[in-house]
Amino acid sequence: MKKRFLIAGNWKMNKTVAETRAFFKTLQPLLTPTVRSELLICPSLVSLAAAFEANASVGISLGAQNVYPKDSGAFTGEVSPLMLKEFVSYVLVGHSERRTLLHESDAFINEKLHALLATGLKPVLCVGETLAERKEGRVFDVIACELEAGLKGVTNEQLSQVTIAYEPIWAIGTGETATPETAEEMHAFMHDWLTKRFEISSVSKVRLLYGGSLKVDNAKQLLSQPHIDGGLIGGASLKADSFVEIARIADGIEKDI
Ligand code: 13P
Repeated sequence: MKKRFLIAGNWKMNKTVAETRAFFKTLQPLLTPTVRSELLICPSLVSLAAAFEANASVGISLGAQNVYPKDSGAFTGEVSPLMLKEFVSYVLVGHSERRTLLHESDAFINEKLHALLATGLKPVLCVGETLAERKEGRVFDVIACELEAGLKGVTNEQLSQVTIAYEPIWAIGTGETATPETAEEMHAFMHDWLTKRFEISSVSKVRLLYGGSLKVDNAKQLLSQPHIDGGLIGGASLKADSFVEIARIADGIEKDI
């Protein structure tokens, strides 16, 4: 099966409900003619219902930025996969900001991933190294460890529901982007790693996204790389026009993904 590019926006802690509605209003006319790439927006939890309603006439994919790995119960402030399923099809897990600021462990991330799969939601597992880890020459070890721990216990069948985002921490929100060669090297490594552990028929369904200061100016070079199947975009996803422009750049790339 031929994959489509996945152009995903992670809004992080940005946009009120009113701003979310305004985004979808601006987005709608920009999607004519039709965009071929799959578009995904992950708003904040409080904006999910508004995004869901506003998206009824737009029809892109929606995702959440976080989840708690239980169906219900005494978990103050948390949101379950079942609750999210009413609004979204994708959920981010293991974003470096949550690993660092909220001290989320690999084991907890793996628990979330399994809870999502059990509920029929599609996890987007984020991995990435710090600048220090890269300088110390540990980048492949770090990514392999995050993949190993994040995907622990995942079956071949389940893997086909998973998306993986490589987001070098030093490139997130810094304006600094991995060069296309560096990004491709990491994506090829992740692809090889997956093929050693899973059946190729499942691996071929997994989209590998690049994230870290991906924007209109560098989208063509990055998305043209053989193992890059889309982007996880922070800053440039907040404006409908740059978000759609990146998707149109992806549409223009001749590549069998
Ligand atoms: P930026 O595109 O703002 O660097 O953010 C990337 C990111 O963290 C997406 O999850």
